[in-house]
Amino acid sequence: MQLLDGKKVSEDIKNEIAVEVQQMKSRGEKVPHLAAVIVGTNGASLTYVGSKVKSCEKVGFESTLVSLPEDTTEEALLAKVKELNADPAIDGYIVQLPLPKHIDEQKILLAIDADKDVDGFHPTNFGRMALEMETFLPATPYGIMELLERYKVETAGKNVVVIGRSHIVGRPMSILLSRKGYPGDATVTLTHSRTKNIAEITREADIIISALGVPYFLKGDMVKEGVTVVDVGITRVPDATNPKGYVIAGDVDFDEVSKKAAFITPVPGGVGPMTIAMLLKNTLLARSRRAK
Ligand code: GUN
Repeated sequence: MQLLDGKKVSEDIKNEIAVEVQQMKSRGEKVPHLAAVIVGTNGASLTYVGSKVKSCEKVGFESTLVSLPEDTTEEALLAKVKELNADPAIDGYIVQLPLPKHIDEQKILLAIDADKDVDGFHPTNFGRMALEMETFLPATPYGIMELLERYKVETAGKNVVVIGRSHIVGRPMSILLSRKGYPGDATVTLTHSRTKNIAEITREADIIISALGVPYFLKGDMVKEGVTVVDVGITRVPDATNPKGYVIAGDVDFDEVSKKAAFITPVPGGVGPMTIAMLLKNTLLARSRRAK
């Protein structure tokens, strides 16, 4: 069994980006500038956005954190989005999801300038992804593609089972793996909460991408020998013995499944750090596009 070490690979990618930023600086060019908007005080979201901003500093990017209160109106958030669209200093930005219930998420995502949408959530960019055109790929699926590629996991003609059909992970993942060329060319089955007999489907899989958010869902008897397993789950499970009061649990029963797997991601240290590295890669792309 080989670990798909997202922590290590993401460090490699960040080092590669840092080298490019140094070269930009030495040529006297503007360095990439990422902004992140967060509304409210959701604990997990604050942690993710904090890591994104910290990673910007590490690679030499400029970053701006826009923290808005929970009771921010949709109009006020739309005004902030328009301001970021018009700000020539900002190369790319994200609006951290989920948003408070009183704000229409789709309305906000549609208002983001597609050329600054480094999350790749705007319909224009999602469509470009599906059509195999150059674009910003959504960071989590992009990170998984990069992990598969760097560990040379074969995907052509393989049976891939994606669990979960979210707009952020499952749906784009299923599209990317079915696209032409490596690491795509797979035969993809997209499963979700209404899927029947899921274990029968996962047992046929050469590669399983689980983005369900149900702790320890995937058990040893649901996979075949030699499977590759990518665990996107990051659920906080209460744990009184932990100083934080919780542990981060993946979708995969690692102890059971790792005994049968050829490749498997750990949680934490698998997909999570890759997501941030790919967001930085998209921001670098946004800057170089704008420099042209
Ligand atoms: N919430 C969970 N994952 C993401 C992500 O990749 N981007 C944004 N903006 N929000 C998220």
